[in-house]
Amino acid sequence: MPAVHVINGPNLNLLGAREPAIYGGATLDDIKATLVERCAAAGVDLIFRQSNNEGDLVGWIQEAGRAKAPVILNAGALTHTSIAIHDAIKGSAANVIEVHLSNVYARESFRHHSFISPLARGVIVGFGPLSYLLAFEALFPAETRKT
Ligand code: DQA
Repeated sequence: MPAVHVINGPNLNLLGAREPAIYGGATLDDIKATLVERCAAAGVDLIFRQSNNEGDLVGWIQEAGRAKAPVILNAGALTHTSIAIHDAIKGSAANVIEVHLSNVYARESFRHHSFISPLARGVIVGFGPLSYLLAFEALFPAETRKT
């Protein structure tokens, strides 16, 4: 089974300290730790990455597409601006679930548009770190797993 690729974009390295009223107190390492546990229990390999650079995300999406590996993608602000990420998903036929910690639709209007959503298999917003776990459940439903 191909590994699940969890790809995080700009400023998500600041989680824990960044606008806690919006993003909560969990760090990206906390989110990773929960996924490491969940993936181990499900027998799924995990590749978990973060970058503040658009090109890194483009390369990682292409890599996952080539490997036919599922992607849980929180592209941060690039969600709302990046045609390059849109094209990477389209060009590599990556199987992407888009996630956001915050409910972007309850925030500024510039967060209401996503260049990713039209290409995503599904979109999960507003559940904090649980958004990532819900995406994992969507990719690997409990009833299809051994554990
Ligand atoms: C975010 C929402 C984006 O609008 C914002 O730019 C982020 C984080 C979220 O997870 O809620 O960086 O993707």
